[in-house]
Amino acid sequence: MEIQVQGQTPLYGRVEVGSSKNAILPILAASLLTDEPRKINRIPNIKDVEVITEVLSSLGVNIDQFSRSLELFGGINSNHPPYELVRQIRASFLVMGPLLARRGNVRVALPGGCAIGTRPIDLHLKGFEALGAKITMSGGDVIAKANILHGNHIYLDFPSVGATENIMMAAALAQGTTYIENAALEPEIVDLANYINSMGGKVTGAGCNVIKIEGVKKLTSTEYTPIPDRIEAGTYMLAAAATGGEVIIENIIPEHLKAITAKLIETGAEVIEGDNQIIVRREKEIKPVYIKTLPYPGFPTDMQAQFMAYLIRANGSSIVTESVFENRFMHVAELLRMGAKIKIEGRTAVIRGQKNLTAARVKATDLRAGAALLIAGLTARGSTTIMNSEHIDRGYEGIVEKFNNLGAKISRI
Ligand code: UD1
Repeated sequence: MEIQVQGQTPLYGRVEVGSSKNAILPILAASLLTDEPRKINRIPNIKDVEVITEVLSSLGVNIDQFSRSLELFGGINSNHPPYELVRQIRASFLVMGPLLARRGNVRVALPGGCAIGTRPIDLHLKGFEALGAKITMSGGDVIAKANILHGNHIYLDFPSVGATENIMMAAALAQGTTYIENAALEPEIVDLANYINSMGGKVTGAGCNVIKIEGVKKLTSTEYTPIPDRIEAGTYMLAAAATGGEVIIENIIPEHLKAITAKLIETGAEVIEGDNQIIVRREKEIKPVYIKTLPYPGFPTDMQAQFMAYLIRANGSSIVTESVFENRFMHVAELLRMGAKIKIEGRTAVIRGQKNLTAARVKATDLRAGAALLIAGLTARGSTTIMNSEHIDRGYEGIVEKFNNLGAKISRI
């Protein structure tokens, strides 16, 4: 799929952000922790949600969609989701923790690498082993077995988002108490804990370095609405600033956007925070900045590509260091095709600011790289074509329509 973006169109108006993709994926996986009815509201129409829903169906869960809600009924009759589904999104691996807790025996394909790096799962497995599981590998699948899971102290060498979530889900039904030390602090972790607690779980400390999970015998029925998507919000904030427009971004939690807001202000953009909205406008030139991606509450790696697209037109040189993933500069080669001046040295990119970008034919290599190309396209001279735009639809609901409502001229080809 391709999309075409007409450049040099400042964005004005209001845009509403949907629920967080990275919160919904683990929440849907955690739905495997009970057989009782569970309802999740405000579900965005994005590809990744579709895939995880298919994974749950393949495991035996009945799912009905009513408008923006998903209702899930019944339990699991399989412990082995098909590889064709699992390989489509890495987050499928998040079914491992709940399946292990419920069935004591689970087999999930190793997720493999992706465009942004090798992304190992050693910390997930270390956590399951600490809870008493025996892990083996066969035919590219990870097999975990445990008659009973026992609570334990688990120290993560790195505050991995996925490992924290997977271990939290397994521990929710374990015997005894689990402590995840050096846990990830992301808001999506807190949302998952709140979801588990809404089913009768006992998770405390989510959002802090140590999360305590007291195992319970059974989880029960719930209705839950996930948090807004801070990365979708951040992408519209960047687009507003990059095009020199003024956009009100609605249905957000400003607290979750602090790192992005702080950097935008440093570049000379104006950011006005409300209770659940944020206004971004830029009239002055863009000042160059230094950015280093870090686990939350640091600057999010999922906003690195979009911010770089913005900094291309700064008045001076900016430096961007990617410390979370080892190979997350795939967008740079495409931005160079649009005339950007960027040099990469290991995990650091130096972006020499310039007045204009020129439209080109470019390729989205992953979800956020695609979003960055859209932002670049909105500011470039001429009409940019983004190939493989299906990557963008994995995580942004109605992005073409939302941008066009703000005055952009984007069409799907
Ligand atoms: C999640 C997000 C992703 C985001 C990332 C970091 C979802 C569905 N995805 O991905 O959008 O970019 O957090 O904020 O929520 N690592 C290991 N061993 C492990 C696990 C991770 O070495 O067992 C490394 C990874 O290779 C990577 C780093 O830790 O370099 C961060 O990964 P992690 O926090 O686990 O990210 P994900 O959960 O995969």
